[in-house]
Amino acid sequence: MIVAIDGPAASGKGTLAKQLAEHLGFGCLDTGLLYRAVGRDVARAGFQLNDTWAAVAAARGLDPATLDDPALRGTEAGDAASFVARIPEVRAALLAYQRDFSRRPPGAVLDGRDIGTVVCPTADVKIFVTASPDVRARRRHAEFIARGVDVAYETVLADIRVRDARDAGRANAPMIAAPDAMLLDTTDLSIEAAFDAAVGLIKRKISHAGC
Ligand code: DC
Repeated sequence: MIVAIDGPAASGKGTLAKQLAEHLGFGCLDTGLLYRAVGRDVARAGFQLNDTWAAVAAARGLDPATLDDPALRGTEAGDAASFVARIPEVRAALLAYQRDFSRRPPGAVLDGRDIGTVVCPTADVKIFVTASPDVRARRRHAEFIARGVDVAYETVLADIRVRDARDAGRANAPMIAAPDAMLLDTTDLSIEAAFDAAVGLIKRKISHAGC
């Protein structure tokens, strides 16, 4: 069984994916980390992010064992990821790893921007998680403050808006809900309520499919 979770930055999709994977006993892949790692590796190799050749080489040579690098967690890494993610050859180079992961038994949860549309278009369950930009910025800001990172709320909100526009506006595999995705708006939901709602959606989907 494959569960595809897409949505914008700080919508809560990452937390939801992890919780669902744990609940179902499935593997979980945060596909944003792949793009973040490509951005990191381009910079480490001494190239600019707009160097397409370097980005494609980094994507083709990516070592998934390096995805737990704490350096991939910050805003800068997210921006760099969003930048290199626009390059079709980078996306193509990361596709096989994501698809292989999705097929691992007993099942997998993948979260990203194009899981339900491009990576796993035949996923059993597709959820598109949204929340207002303001609420997403407030959540992300609170996370930064909790980690001792001093950043203004306005900066976080501006970054989220730029990232949304770039991720949704690119020509190749833009962030968009698959036509058959279930929408989950977490603007007014706690993490627990979002999890319960997602489990409810999955149960309904499975019972409709007659599984
Ligand atoms: O989910 P995240 O914030 O870690 O993702 C970082 C960036 O990577 C995001 O702004 C766009 C890109 N990305 C993508 O294009 N496709 C995915 N499936 C996942 C992430």
